[in-house]
Parts: sequence; structure tokens; C-alpha cells
Amino acid sequence: MQVSEIAARGIALLGCGKMGSAMLAGWLDRGVSPQAVWVIDPNPSEWLRQTGVHINAPLPEAGEQAPGIVLIAVKPQMMGEALPQLQQLGNGKTLFISVAAGTSIATYESLLGAETPIVRAMPNTPAAVGRGITAIIGNASASADDVIRADALLQAIGQTVRLQSEAQMDAVTGVSGSGPAYVFHLIETLAAAGEAEGLPAELAMQLAKATVAGAGALAEAAEETPAELRINVTSPNGTTQAALEVLMDEDNGFPPLLRRAVAAASNRSKELSRG
Ligand SMILES: NC(=O)c1ccc[n+]([C@@H]2O[C@H](COP(=O)([O-])OP(=O)(O)OC[C@H]3O[C@@H](n4cnc5c(N)ncnc54)[C@H](OP(=O)(O)O)[C@@H]3O)[C@@H](O)[C@H]2O)c1
Repeated sequence: MQVSEIAARGIALLGCGKMGSAMLAGWLDRGVSPQAVWVIDPNPSEWLRQTGVHINAPLPEAGEQAPGIVLIAVKPQMMGEALPQLQQLGNGKTLFISVAAGTSIATYESLLGAETPIVRAMPNTPAAVGRGITAIIGNASASADDVIRADALLQAIGQTVRLQSEAQMDAVTGVSGSGPAYVFHLIETLAAAGEAEGLPAELAMQLAKATVAGAGALAEAAEETPAELRINVTSPNGTTQAALEVLMDEDNGFPPLLRRAVAAASNRSKELSRG
């Protein structure tokens, strides 16, 4: 399904910060007419102003003219203030898609009505360069077609995956939602370790960034699993093996460290969802 077709009945975007702008840029690139988009945001950016979309204009009336889709991209703490503006579109034909972390489908249903079609989504920041990954799950009122439309809209910022249950959202948050920050920290610490071995800071950072980006691209493109790729570059008693003995240590290496980090993020996500 073409994004421009999906947008034909109109899209309202609530919140146009980092995530909202990345999505809007992807839709416009894919041929969505700016006239089909209504953005609500208290401080529209310079970029947003020159796109030609409707900004803080009244939405078309509820009923046949109502936007086909509302996409919610405000911070969870702004939800209580932002959502009432759209309450009149609940329990109707308008599909609500939310990318807000930690706001459950039940919360939306209580604010908008249980018959509102809702798709909850968890994207991540590489969305800013079209390389995000977004996990999605619909509520009982969302039809198969609604989920397909949400999926197609979110592909404007990268890959999408479907979940079987909303409960999986906390683990997804711990892996891909918060994951880019773990990788940024890997880059920082890899560069710092290079400096400690005597490299100039700038050179160490260039090496670290390119290594993480290149290895990530190779892991995605290659037919081998990441484990096979790792084994392929590890000669017996070589340099890589010396490092991997430290990193793969079952007591102090990556396995227990990442297990704890991802569990901490998932647990925090559960706490936030409980409010
Ligand atoms: N960034 C990520 O990696 C990421 C990943 C997964 C999920 N998410 C989710 O995406 C959502 C947006 O995150 P973000 O990083 O894009 O945040 P952001 O850059 O702060 O964007 C939020 C936007 O909403 C605007 N806003 C505030 N109050 C509003 C209101 N009452 N009505 C309409 N708009 C309002 C903000 O304006 P002001 O700046 O003027 O307040 C801002 O432009 C969050 O719920 C977050 O959980 C983000």
C-alpha cells in the first residue's frame, strides 16, 4: 500500500519533535501531499514551517471529513495535556497510532474510548536517518487493514516488526528502543580505549564509529549469523581472541552486563506503563 494512498483521508500529527519530524520527512519524501497533513505542536520548527503542512490549524470536523489517522508523537508526560484535543475523534473510524514510550493501549482506550482503533508502536532514534526499527501491536478494535496502514506509515523511518502481545513492548524497549544509546556508549568507550593505547582522540573516535557502523552494516547484509561472522575473524591465539576472552567472560563480560542492562530498561518500561 502506498503511503500517499493511506494519507489521502488526512493525517493529524500530534507533536512534531525529533520522532514526529523524522516521520513527516519520510512521508513527504514518499509523495504525501503537505495539504493532507495537520500538525499540532506548540513550537513549530523552522523546518516544519517550510514544509507547507497545516500547522496548528483546526482539524477537519469529526465524521466523514475527520482525518483517517492520528499519529501521537508527544512525550508521555505531555499526553494528559495533548490528547484531550483529539478526544472527539475517538470511538470512530480514525486510527490512532502512538509512538510514545510507556503509554499503554489501556490508557489510550480510557481516554479515547474502547472502540477506538489503536496501534501502539516503539521506534528508535536511527529513524532520523531512515534506519530505525519500529515494533507495532494493535488493540482489539484495530482491523488487519489498520495494522497494515500503520506498518506502511512507520516504514517511512525504517524497518517494522509486528508483536504478538503488548507485553512484549517492555522487552522491545530494552533491546531496540533504548539500544541505540548502548551502541553510542560502545563507540565512546571503544574510542577511549584506543586513546588509552596511545591513539590521538580524533583518530580513535573515527576508528570506533566506522567500526561499529561497518560491522552493523555487515551483520545486516551477510548471510552468516553474527556468531559466524565473529568466528570468521577470530584466528586461534590471535588478537581478536585475546579481546573476546575478556568480552565473552560469562561472569564479567558482555553476556551478564547486557543481560542486566536490558532487564533494567525493560523493568523501567514496566514501571512507566503502570504510571
Ligand atoms: N526519540 C526516540 O528515540 C524515541 C524512541 C521511541 C519512542 N519515542 C517516543 O516518541 C515521542 C516523541 O519523542 P521525541 O524524541 O520526538 O520528543 P520531542 O523531540 O520532545 O518531541 C515532542 C514534541 O511534542 C511537542 N508538544 C509538547 N506538548 C504538546 C502538546 N500539548 N500538543 C502537541 N505537541 C506538543 C513538543 O513541543 P516542545 O518541544 O515545545 O515541548 C515537541 O515538539 C515520545 O513519546 C517518545 O517516548 C521516542
